Amino acid sequence: MSCDYLALAQPGVQKLSPYVPGKPVDELARELNLDPAGIVKLASNENPLGPSPKVLDAIRAELSELTRYPDGNGFALKKRLAERYSVGIGQVTLGNGSNDILELVARAYLAPGLNAVFSEHAFAVYPIATQAVGAEGRAVAAKNWGHDLDAMAAAIDENTRVVFVANPNNPTGTWFEAAALDSFLARVPEHVLVVLDEAYIEYAEGQELPDGLRFLADYPNLLVSRTFSKAYGLAALRVGYAISSPVIADVLNRVRQPFNVNGLALAAACAALDDVDYLIASRKVNDAGMVQLESGFRRLGLDWIPSRGNFIAVDFARDAAPINQALLREGVIVRPVAGYGMPTFLRVSIGTEQENARFLDVLRQVLAQ
Ligand SMILES: Cc1ncc(COP(=O)(O)O)c(C=O)c1O
Repeated sequence: MSCDYLALAQPGVQKLSPYVPGKPVDELARELNLDPAGIVKLASNENPLGPSPKVLDAIRAELSELTRYPDGNGFALKKRLAERYSVGIGQVTLGNGSNDILELVARAYLAPGLNAVFSEHAFAVYPIATQAVGAEGRAVAAKNWGHDLDAMAAAIDENTRVVFVANPNNPTGTWFEAAALDSFLARVPEHVLVVLDEAYIEYAEGQELPDGLRFLADYPNLLVSRTFSKAYGLAALRVGYAISSPVIADVLNRVRQPFNVNGLALAAACAALDDVDYLIASRKVNDAGMVQLESGFRRLGLDWIPSRGNFIAVDFARDAAPINQALLREGVIVRPVAGYGMPTFLRVSIGTEQENARFLDVLRQVLAQ
């Protein structure tokens, strides 16, 4: 008789549902016998610009080092980040994507009997990382689709060790301003680590969103996590980072894999940080694409949640699953968000002008059927 290997897994893991990523282009092409070149993917909040030539040069230069382990401390990238943000190098933790940072926090600070607080409709990895280590996830009801920071502060108890807040949030795109963040941080007890997830901050700076790093000096329990996957366009390479107090960075360093960020990724991220023009172009394409999608939705009589990310959640006021299926049949991949408690919405990543136009055109036809 063979063992029940599911029953042998940790109780939290047994009840986990795996993260569902956006459908890859090749998978849809295989399923529906479509030409991959004709498929538009606006499903994973990726950068539609394609990689920066400077990043590609940096990767090529690094290829001859493939037989070597990367610098396990990521010194060069940490140094650049520390200089860029005027923090100590000992305050920087590198991750295999910022996803890795979220998991390092959960592994280091959560355990059975402890809990993490996050918002309803927030990034799926918060509950997954929490549950995977046997801790309790407390999802606090959202307010106008965004974080209800007062209710989140009120949900904290003596067993809370982590609060995850995303600014802006994915998949809703909602955000909060500096004063709201400051008064929230002032209410969170010192024994609770606040993970301020700023995966999309580069798209939103100057648009009412605070730079979380400004609060580090006042709140030693704050950790700001960011990524190279979005505005810097390095999603495939998996590089993210956290900036926190040196003590928290030291704790995360104890549980991280020795070589959690690979050599090509380290070289690419260094080059990406210096490539100011690419960042400006990313922001410009995103701002224009947001206006394009919003005006398209307005023409179609659809409602949406105003967003400060590189994506927008559009409301069909009815089950969005058949609309998603119809879009897929036409070679357009967006993201269903029923799993986030938003069954009438689809989340659409901002693409190039042509991709957005194609999506809007197909959507118009689908809605007219
Ligand atoms: C809010 C948020 N945080 C973190 C991540 C993780 O991104 P990555 O691991 O690519 O840095 C994502 C990715 O979509 C996200 O939306």
